[in-house]
Amino acid sequence: MTSYIYYTATTLDGFLADPNDSLDWLMTQPIDNDGPFAIADLMATVGVTVMGSTTYEWLLRHLGDDPWPYPEQRTFVFTHRDLAVVHPSIELIAGTPAEHRARIEEAADDLGVWVVGGGHLAAQFASAGMLDEMVVSYAPVVLGAGRPLFTGQFDFELLETAQNRAFLIGRYRVVGPRG
Ligand SMILES: NC(=O)c1ccc[n+]([C@@H]2O[C@H](COP(=O)([O-])OP(=O)(O)OC[C@H]3O[C@@H](n4cnc5c(N)ncnc54)[C@H](OP(=O)(O)O)[C@@H]3O)[C@@H](O)[C@H]2O)c1
Repeated sequence: MTSYIYYTATTLDGFLADPNDSLDWLMTQPIDNDGPFAIADLMATVGVTVMGSTTYEWLLRHLGDDPWPYPEQRTFVFTHRDLAVVHPSIELIAGTPAEHRARIEEAADDLGVWVVGGGHLAAQFASAGMLDEMVVSYAPVVLGAGRPLFTGQFDFELLETAQNRAFLIGRYRVVGPRG
């Protein structure tokens, strides 16, 4: 069984990014890259990343001269547009997660899938029964508006908590849609 994890950082009021897709509030926070729930630990467990086009375009804008950060993983970008593909591991797809389940899981092989975001894509995966866990790092910031952590109505079960410098981290099991 392929495991799907939505691993992300959020403000205290549940935003992944500000209304202009800025992550300045996040990048200025202290974090221990060898501490609890470090990104390197996640990357060792995933064979596939999936993301929406806003997240992909944010990454492209901020790469500068750096290479694509996930060359070891297969990346599926959900979009209806013909975006630039900057690495052979990247594929543009459209439609529901369920429609692509077989190829996502084939690409993951024995590893997991990192649902990078945004929040509506994560909810689409949860609705399709393709989300097992959510790991949320809460930064000590309130923005008042922005891109949502999650859309729709779902229940989660808290499994674990930790602190990494500025961040309060919660690991949750996805229980399912409410009601
Ligand atoms: N705080 C963090 O750790 C973190 C993590 C992830 C992302 N972020 C940021 O949060 C923001 C998220 O942006 P967002 O809310 O707009 O979400 P997003 O998921 O990155 O992008 C949404 C777009 O993806 C495309 N899309 C979504 N589902 C699709 C489907 N089923 N089929 C085809 N296309 C689909 C649509 O665009 P088109 O069809 O028009 O291309 C949609 O407008 C970004 O600024 C990102 O950088 C932050």
